[in-house]
Amino acid sequence: MANINVIDAITQRSSKRKYLAKPVDDETLNKILTAAQRTPSGANMQPWTVYAVRNVELLSKIGSDVIDHIKAGGGLEQEIQYYPVKWINPYKKRRIVTGAGLYVKMGVDRKDNAMREKLWHDNYRWFGAQTVVFVYVDKALIDGSEGALIDCGAYMQTLMLAAQEFGIDSCPQGSTTEYGKIIAKTMEVPENLALLYSVVLGYEDKDAIQNAYQPERASLDEAVTFLD
Ligand SMILES: Cc1cc2nc3c(=O)[nH]c(=O)nc-3n(C[C@H](O)[C@H](O)[C@H](O)COP(=O)(O)O)c2cc1C
Repeated sequence: MANINVIDAITQRSSKRKYLAKPVDDETLNKILTAAQRTPSGANMQPWTVYAVRNVELLSKIGSDVIDHIKAGGGLEQEIQYYPVKWINPYKKRRIVTGAGLYVKMGVDRKDNAMREKLWHDNYRWFGAQTVVFVYVDKALIDGSEGALIDCGAYMQTLMLAAQEFGIDSCPQGSTTEYGKIIAKTMEVPENLALLYSVVLGYEDKDAIQNAYQPERASLDEAVTFLD
């Protein structure tokens, strides 16, 4: 998929959860990251601090450190709480429908805990991809204000849409947010940085059934109020 228009890129992007073992090359990665630098931000603050990792040993170590922590019964180690503490509808229902839809597509029984755990841990194996972008924010920017989080969210979408231009698939990850402190330690990032999320970049395995999953969206009527 190359040279696509913006609406096509938006429509065709979806989260891919199985990749070929092939990194994104230097030139393409630079072009994607250069495009993402154009993301707008309040006062042009550009609050994202980005680590693009293609060192497969390091990626493996980051993932193993998280999985070992989980297996040892460790709790969340996060700088920010991404998901709601209390889920209410309609968001709760959307979460359940979206998760169930993926399991149905993959033929996974919701009671198959071993398989569900494997799929969760696949996040920390980067779904087999070899390029992961970790987006950090300076803790000083989220000490009493949240605007930087809005900017960094916009950065995520710019990055993923720019990737589409080059035929690079992606999956945003809040699963890494939840263990951000562990990941920051393994990556040896400065103390002032908090991990917000990661984005896996790569080439989808087109034979993987989970990659064909495209969850529905609420209708415009539900999402938008027109005040004419
Ligand atoms: C901030 C954020 C965090 C996410 N975290 C994860 C994650 O940890 N693992 C995962 O498989 N998908 C994750 N997703 C992907 C969402 O599940 C996905 O975007 C949503 O279901 C809509 O599907 P689509 O991206 O295929 O359109 C995340 C998406 C966002 C925006």
